Amino acid sequence: MHIHRSEKIWLGLGAATLVIFLGIIGAAAVSDGIAPASHVQTIDPTKVAQTPPFVDPGVHRLADGSYEADIVGHIFAFTPAKISVPVGAKVTFFATSPDVVHGFFIADTDVNMMLIPGWVSSATHVFAKPGTYLLMCNEYCGVGHHFMSGTIEVR
Ligand code: CUA
Repeated sequence: MHIHRSEKIWLGLGAATLVIFLGIIGAAAVSDGIAPASHVQTIDPTKVAQTPPFVDPGVHRLADGSYEADIVGHIFAFTPAKISVPVGAKVTFFATSPDVVHGFFIADTDVNMMLIPGWVSSATHVFAKPGTYLLMCNEYCGVGHHFMSGTIEVR
């Protein structure tokens, strides 16, 4: 099969661009420490209620003054559905699902994770402004998906 010289040049440019872009993505992922929200922390989805920290879901104050919020997303609610933290608090959320894939999105923040059975997702946020923040599931998870929400009171 004969390939025209200019076609070979364009094929070569296309292949080189692909290699360069994949290299940039790979280098950026390594240098910036980009990882999935789970940070590769696993859990047995059939034993969520018996596995720390989900034995005692809710907000816990840590020794360094920051907070940890352990929340389970299940069909079709978050447990606990309402938490409160002081204004200015640095809160690290740990969340998982015992059943299907759910979303974990806190409106007006950059916290937006998937809750995948078998994985513990985590994200940290500093609540600088007081108010009531809506926590919602933004992954379609079944007939009750639109009921799945919670609130975070920042006082
Ligand atoms: Cu849970 Cu949608």
